[in-house]
Amino acid sequence: MAVEQPGRPRNTRERFQILGDLIYDKMFHNFVWQSIFRSGYPNTPRNQMLAVATNVFLHLHPTRIHRTHVKITHTYCLGGLTFFMFLMLTVTGVLLMFYYVPSVDRAYNDIQAIQTDVRFGQLMRNVHRWTAHGMVIFVFLHMFRVFYTGAYKAPREFNWVVGVILLVLTLLLSFTGYLLPWDQLALWAITVGHGIGGSAPYLGDETQLVLFGGFEIGQNALIRFYTLHVLALPLAAAIFMAVHFWRIRRDGGMARPL
Ligand code: HEM
Repeated sequence: MAVEQPGRPRNTRERFQILGDLIYDKMFHNFVWQSIFRSGYPNTPRNQMLAVATNVFLHLHPTRIHRTHVKITHTYCLGGLTFFMFLMLTVTGVLLMFYYVPSVDRAYNDIQAIQTDVRFGQLMRNVHRWTAHGMVIFVFLHMFRVFYTGAYKAPREFNWVVGVILLVLTLLLSFTGYLLPWDQLALWAITVGHGIGGSAPYLGDETQLVLFGGFEIGQNALIRFYTLHVLALPLAAAIFMAVHFWRIRRDGGMARPL
């Protein structure tokens, strides 16, 4: 009769179990892993809350939310969709930047080349353009949702104001991007904007100088719009979005019922 030795695996299943535990131990119970991830595996309510609270990206969200918050059927998470579009625009925008030079001699041809010569260039440009239209539509729909559910009322008034800033930034991003293809559509649209700026009471000339870098639309206007479009406005939008999301948490989560 075989004598069972304590601690030794009795069959293949147990052997695999011991091997699995060993791999798990080596991977997760070591200095490097634990210096990055402070909480344990998120399989208990406590560890799940710690995983959210100690993660740089997730910590803006509450660790616990009401059941109705995840029922997106009520709101379509329109703010979330707007944010998703912002992320898509950032990714496709960075890819477009590899091929586009903001110079009046090159801009138009570069866009043509993106459409015809660059692999997936047309897809990249179309996704960027359509997502930009989508972001404008969705930010308005999100605002209407907030308005019609009364989610702008106390204590969320400040977040409504942050939202208005985000709305303006979204429209400015859209407007500054419109000039970049340097085609007829862009040029005449900016000519209208230039005229509107110039007709500002008392400060018309100054407005044109600041926004367009001169009294005519040319290289100065293009480089200003480009810098605003790829750097200043996205950065400002990202900062205000972080405040917006953080505020939702500070204001006791989202308004209910949604
Ligand atoms: C780039 C633009 C914006 C982004 C990415 C954004 C994102 C979000 C997200 C993800 C939420 C969580 C709830 C949801 O998805 O519906 C939210 C809530 C909220 N947003 Fe926005 N938002 C933007 C613009 C606006 C605008 C234009 C307003 C109003 C003028 C606004 C006012 C609010 C308010 C008051 C809440 C809290 C709603 C509640 O507690 O139910 N946001 N936003």
